[in-house]
Amino acid sequence: VSSLAGALASRRVVVVAGSGGVGKTTSSAALAMALARRGLRVCVLTVDPARRLASALGLDLNEGTARVVNGPWSGSLTAVQLDAGRTFDGLLERYGASAETVSTIRRNPIYKSLAGALGGTQEYMAVERVYELSSSGNYDIVVIDTPPTRNAVELLDAPERLLNFLTHPIVRALLVPTKFSLRAASLATSAVTRTIGTVVGHDLVNDVVSFFQAFGSLHDGFVERARSVRDLLGDETTGYVLVTTPRGDALEETRWFANQLERRGVRANGVIVNRVHPRFTDRDPESLPFAGGTLGVHLDNLRDIERAARRDRAAVSVLSGFDPDVVVAEIPWQAEPLTDVDALDNVARSYLA
Ligand SMILES: Nc1ncnc2c1ncn2[C@@H]1O[C@H](COP(=O)(O)OP(=O)(O)OP(=O)(O)O)[C@@H](O)[C@H]1O
Ligand SMILES: [Mg+2]
Repeated sequence: VSSLAGALASRRVVVVAGSGGVGKTTSSAALAMALARRGLRVCVLTVDPARRLASALGLDLNEGTARVVNGPWSGSLTAVQLDAGRTFDGLLERYGASAETVSTIRRNPIYKSLAGALGGTQEYMAVERVYELSSSGNYDIVVIDTPPTRNAVELLDAPERLLNFLTHPIVRALLVPTKFSLRAASLATSAVTRTIGTVVGHDLVNDVVSFFQAFGSLHDGFVERARSVRDLLGDETTGYVLVTTPRGDALEETRWFANQLERRGVRANGVIVNRVHPRFTDRDPESLPFAGGTLGVHLDNLRDIERAARRDRAAVSVLSGFDPDVVVAEIPWQAEPLTDVDALDNVARSYLA
């Protein structure tokens, strides 16, 4: 049986998903280290608003900037925190007809509210950033840490949603550059516009007109890019890892998410079962003796832990029995919080490498 890092080493992108608090951020960081231990140039991207990755890596990640994390690996590890706004700006620059157009769009209040209103923009920008990092040539593999499960599904659907918006007939009609530049120009001066302007304010009308004028030239680039981003998520070089705990509710969510993936034609390649109770005895917990005093307290603790460990093991074996192609890795409860590079690397080396 190969290790999780071994099973994922040939991928270009690894999406790490799971429900809230199960250990996605911790697992992505440790997995990234295990991959770096295999000599790969690894980038780990977090969209975690709590910025736990940054603190776990002992970094003060400025939003959007990449930081090299040093450690005992033969490859390299770079950590990046997602800045959705800056990623959007990067896209504008990429497709902007001119620096002037870009700054016109950036200053435009319609752009600001559109960027926020396009629900899922955050998710889209996350996958957009993965695409950018992955195609930069600087990394062999990009690991992406995600917000809780239901958002991770939004992340999967984000490119399609943006495409639906951009290719919607009404939006197309407004944005198609050549036709609309003329239309917008005449619109700006038309009697109708002036009348509307007196009601909603001339500034707003001008904003709308100039936004669509400027954005029109970017439309085709955005559509093409969103298609590439969508294709990357479904590509066979993209792997999926589900993080769960051995608890019933987390396992339930994991199953739900695996179904969501399947519906979209992708399969999970690995599962990380985090916070598995460690084992301290081979004895049946029910056969442990009872006693008074301090010894009795210790025996009670041992019994409780071993019962929990057996429940956990049953849950793990159900998961392992699902699909022989899916690598199931376990990470035990750690006595010390996983708050620095050494502790994370220890997990990487012991359970994922
Ligand atoms: N195996 C473990 N043993 C002990 N502590 C752990 C373990 N795994 C994670 N933790 C701790 O649990 C906390 C939550 O972990 P983490 O931030 O990785 O979860 P998450 O799934 O990313 O949460 P969120 O959904 O909020 O993003 C962190 O403080 C982390 O250090
Ligand atoms: Mg997290």
